[in-house]
Order: sequence, then C-alpha cells, then structure tokens
Amino acid sequence: MKEFKRTLITTALPYANGPVHIGHLAGVYVPADIYARYLRLKGEEVMMVGGSDEHGVPITIKAKNEGVTPQDIVDRYHNIIKNSFEGLGISFDVYGRTTSETHRRTASDFFRKLYEKGEFIEKTSMQLYDEEAGQFLADRYVTGTCPHCGNEHAYGDQCENCGTSLNATDLINPKSAITGNVPVLKETSHWYLPLDKWQSRLEEWILKDHKEWKPNVYGQCKSWLEMGLQPRAVSRDLDWGIPVPVEGAEGKVLYVWFDAPIGYISNTIDLVGDDYTKWWKDPETRMLHFIGKDNIVFHCIVFPSMLMADGSYNLPDNVPANEFLNLEDDKISTSRNWAVWLHEYLEDFPGKQDVLRYVLTANAPETKDNNFTWKDFQTRNNSELVAILGNFVNRAVVLTHKYFEGVVPAAGEFTEAETNLFDEIRHLKDELSAALDTFHFRDALRIAMDMARAGNKYLQETEPWKVAKTDMARTATILYTAIQVCANLAIAFEPFLPFMAAKLMKMLGMENIDWAMLGGTDLIPAGRKIGEPELLFEKIEDGVIEAQVQKLLDTKKANQLKAWKPEDVKEDVEFETFEKVDIRVGKVLECSKVKKSKKLLQFSIDDGTGTPRTILSGIAQSYPDPEVLVGKEILFVANFAPRKMMGIESQGMILSAVNPDGTLTVTGPTAPVQPGCSVG
Ligand code: 2FM
Ligand code: ZN
Repeated sequence: MKEFKRTLITTALPYANGPVHIGHLAGVYVPADIYARYLRLKGEEVMMVGGSDEHGVPITIKAKNEGVTPQDIVDRYHNIIKNSFEGLGISFDVYGRTTSETHRRTASDFFRKLYEKGEFIEKTSMQLYDEEAGQFLADRYVTGTCPHCGNEHAYGDQCENCGTSLNATDLINPKSAITGNVPVLKETSHWYLPLDKWQSRLEEWILKDHKEWKPNVYGQCKSWLEMGLQPRAVSRDLDWGIPVPVEGAEGKVLYVWFDAPIGYISNTIDLVGDDYTKWWKDPETRMLHFIGKDNIVFHCIVFPSMLMADGSYNLPDNVPANEFLNLEDDKISTSRNWAVWLHEYLEDFPGKQDVLRYVLTANAPETKDNNFTWKDFQTRNNSELVAILGNFVNRAVVLTHKYFEGVVPAAGEFTEAETNLFDEIRHLKDELSAALDTFHFRDALRIAMDMARAGNKYLQETEPWKVAKTDMARTATILYTAIQVCANLAIAFEPFLPFMAAKLMKMLGMENIDWAMLGGTDLIPAGRKIGEPELLFEKIEDGVIEAQVQKLLDTKKANQLKAWKPEDVKEDVEFETFEKVDIRVGKVLECSKVKKSKKLLQFSIDDGTGTPRTILSGIAQSYPDPEVLVGKEILFVANFAPRKMMGIESQGMILSAVNPDGTLTVTGPTAPVQPGCSVG
C-alpha cells in the first residue's frame, strides 16, 4: 500500500435549500469526522473540508416559492447548517460556501483553463423551454415520466425512484416546474465535458487499481463504465450560479455539479491560500471523498474527469460512500418533513450530541440502507451508553473517591487479572485501528465498546468493594487499573464521542492524548487527584421518546389527512361481480375544460378500437391545465353506461385516485401499455 504524508478529507457539500437531518449526519459527516479525529490522534497531518452547496435549481425553486431571492435562501440555510454541524462536534478545518468570492474565482479559473486547453466540446442542441416563464428548463425545473421505470415524478436530472441520472429531454411528458406548462424545444448551446475521452483511464484507475473500494461504490462505477460514458453538459441557461467565464456566454452559468466539487478546492484555498497545492497536487497527499450513494458518479467519474482534464491534480484515493438511512421504516424526505432535523435535535436534546453520534454510527448505513427508530435510540442510550460505558467510568471514579478520596492510588504488582485486561485492551486497539483504517466505523464502535465491557467484567470479577473490607493494597491496584482503563476509553472513544471524551479527560486531569497512548497501563499517574464523579450519560425516559414519536405521528397525520382504516373497506365482491366491470387502458388524445362547467373535463381517448372515445370526468379542479394529461396512458371503465352531461355524451369513466386533500389524480399503468388492453 502506498504511504502518504497527509490526508485531505472532503465531505459532500449539502445544498443550502433546507436544514440538514440525521440521514446527512449518518451517511457523511459522522463517519468523516470519526476518521479525521482518528488521524489527528495518530498525529497525522489532516484537513477536513466542508461547506454549503449554494447553487443549483433546488435553491432557485425554493426562493421562487417563498417569494425571496436565492441569496436569502442560502444565507438562511448556510447558517443553520453550519451551526448544526458545529453543535454536533463535526470538526471541519474549514466550512465555506460556494457563493464566496474565492469560489467564484477558483471555479471560473478551473473552467477557463479547461476551455483554453480545448477540453470541452461546444454543442448546440434542442432543450426544453418554458415559453410563459421565458426560460430554459434545466434539471429540477422539469418533471415528467422516467423512461426507465415509468415513475411519473422524475426530475430532469435524476429519477429518485430508480436512481437513474437523466437529461431533461429524456423525460416522457415533461412539465415545467415553474408554470406547469408543457415545454417546447428551443435551440441553445452549451459546453460539454467529454467523459468518453477519460473512459479508459477511469477504467484502469478504478476497476483495476482500486479494487479495494467499497463494493457499493466499485459496483456503481463498474456499471457506469460498462454502459459507456457520454459527454456531459457543464453549463446551464440559468440566472443563478457562476457565470460561464468566456465570451459569448451571456445568460449561462456553470452547472452546479461542475462548480460544487471545485468548492472543496476553494474552501481549501480559503483556509491555507497558495498552500492549497500541497493538499491538492502533491502526490504524497491522500484525498478521500465522504459522500452518500447518490453522489458516487459525480465523485468517481465526473469530478475525476475534470481533474484529469486539468492535469495537475491528484485523484481521490478512496470514496467511502454510504447508503441511505431511513427513519422509522420510511424514506427520509424533506418535502414530507419526514426527518429528524439536526437543529431541532440540538434544541430537544441539549448535551446529548454524543448519543446521536453513537446511535448513528452503531446503525450506520455502511453496506445497505439502514433504519433509525426512536425506540432504538433510547435502548442504545440506556443499555449501552449508560449501562456499559457510563456505568464503568462511574464505578471507577466513585470507588476511587470512596476509598482513596479521589487520589489515584499507587498500584502493587499486577496479577493475571490486570495483565489479561491490558492484553485484551491492546488486542482491541489493534482491531479498532484496523476497522478505522478501512472505514468500518460500525465495527470500530463495537470494538471500542468491547473495551468498556472488558472494564466492567474486570470490576465484576475483582470486586474491589468486597476486597476493600480486608485488603486496601489490592484495592489500590484494582482502582489504579480501573482508572487507567477510563483513560484508555477517553482515547478510544474520542473519534466517536468527542463530548464525552472531553468530559472524561477533564475528570481524569488528562490534557493531551494521542493514539499511541491507547493500551497504556500508566496514563494517569498515582497520586493525581481526579475530579468529582459526573455522569457521562443519563437514562432517557419513555416520555421523551414518546414526544418524539408523537411529533412524527403528527407529521404522518398531516401528510395523510384522510388515512383509511380497515373498517372503511367496502363489502366483499365475488370475482364474477368484479369481472363485469370492463377496465381498459386508454391514451389521452385531447383533454380540455367543458364550457360553463367548473368540474368537467372532456377527454378524447385512443381506446385501441381505432375510433376515439369521448369521456367526461369531474376532475377539472384538480387539473387547472388539463393539457398536461395529453399523451398519458390512463385507466377507464369501458362499459360504464353512457350518460349525457352539458349536452355531451360520455362513453365511460376515467379512474382517478383521491388524494388526502381531496384532489384527484388520474391513474394509469406504470410502464407503457398498448391502448385498449384490458385490466384485471
Ligand atoms: O447531493 C447534494 O446534496 C450535493 N449538494 C452534493 C455536492 S457534493 C460536492 F460535489 F460538492
Ligand atoms: Zn426511474
């Protein structure tokens, strides 16, 4: 394995369009922080870079919805996010923002260099354009049906259902997120980074030279590379972002995924100025990107291609990306407010930062999506932090006060019990280091906890409270040992639980710690007066957990105004009865409001017979722009007795879902189906 002199840790820059939640923390920031703290304890030179991603369409959409400027939005959330990270002890060396002047300059220079080297292709193409809004519809400004999985709510840059990365023009039935209009195609020109040019180098670098990457990361890269890379546009027709710094590029900005990773470089420059080259260009620096799984392609394929195109930068040595964290068995969702927001956690649980860090690490979504529940949070606090770690330290400190007035006693000769205990701690240290070195943070935390378990077992077996009745010299050895174990725990847990470690160090009078000390038998000298016993963790009562669960239930209730109960189900029907209803798939040819009717829409449907069918449906209030339904495949009842309404004969019934708020959504197949097919 290559030896490096220093490590640059980057953490995904969260979009400043909302606060950060436990999913962000578990997937990216806690693991990165554990690793950075571990390296610092080892005395290594390390820099941990973070910052807010302040460009991109989600921010402009939010601003539009609120009637404020994008700058207002990013100012608000950058501060909330930064404070949340600080509150949770995420030890960034620098936390910047992509609206900074340094970043604008760095990203512009980066683009210009590639432009001057001829690394871009300039291409004219037809892009979606909203005539009413007078703007091109990039990325999240357009929604539509995913061509891969049929999800009708896919975005112009990605389908969140199947995870496929998309171009806006790939969407079936695209719709503007600004006006709801069907966009037209309009010519525009952009700069593209030819990823295909880097295909073979990427294959060699990842598939051959980095087989040690996590299987989820390696696998995603492999499948991208197998599909064959295509040129990717790095500019957009938008008015929020970094202007494309070349002539003739008015109205165009850098694509957010072009400028955001350069933010890692800009933020390094903000911290160390010209010395940034040491961190980015010296081959003796190791670069690691901590990210979530949705960012893998950008950090393993796109950004490395940009860095190769520049030619003077290092490539990342590893990208330990995590999977996703769910909350109470449901996907975390900002729009549905289904999240535990960090700024709210810090308010609701003052002084309990380490509890969250602990639970999120113990449950980290390292190899698969994982689940956070408040019940598990309580159990892990009460039965692990309080009952194992807190209990051991408390017993050691309380007994030292009880028998030796808080002065660490001098030890006599170690017996087998002490030798075995320290052997075990040193063995666990090796395992712990190996787990941390390979980014297995869940395992690492369990191993650290095993040290506390070993301490408890030692006290249980040596029973100093009994020995003290007859043999104070032996009691002294036992409590000297127990205090040394406490000191070892402060070191072992510092990367995971820095608040607890600081408190414990203070109690023990430890000033400086480092990883080399871990395993030591003489970390706290005999004769030192230690502090009064203070509880490191306290039990979390049921009421506290119930309040959090209630908060989520309220959210669920708000999201499902009219949730139905089993008793609401209609009377059973036999198959013969059901079979009488002739449900078929139709394709909407035309759809418009019926004059003088507030409720009715008139559909003309291709029902597969060759003759269009007219159906009226009372859903006009749910579809202010009925044309959005044109081209959609829908379900209709073909043998619904014809009826005349407003002078028009309706030949069937359109099937719609009733939403919690009473609005109706027309239903249809999840993948293309030939009109006329029967449904049953
Ligand atoms: O997915 C996201 O939240 C992006 N804002 C991550 C950007 S990471 C980096 F490239 F800056
Ligand atoms: Zn999809």
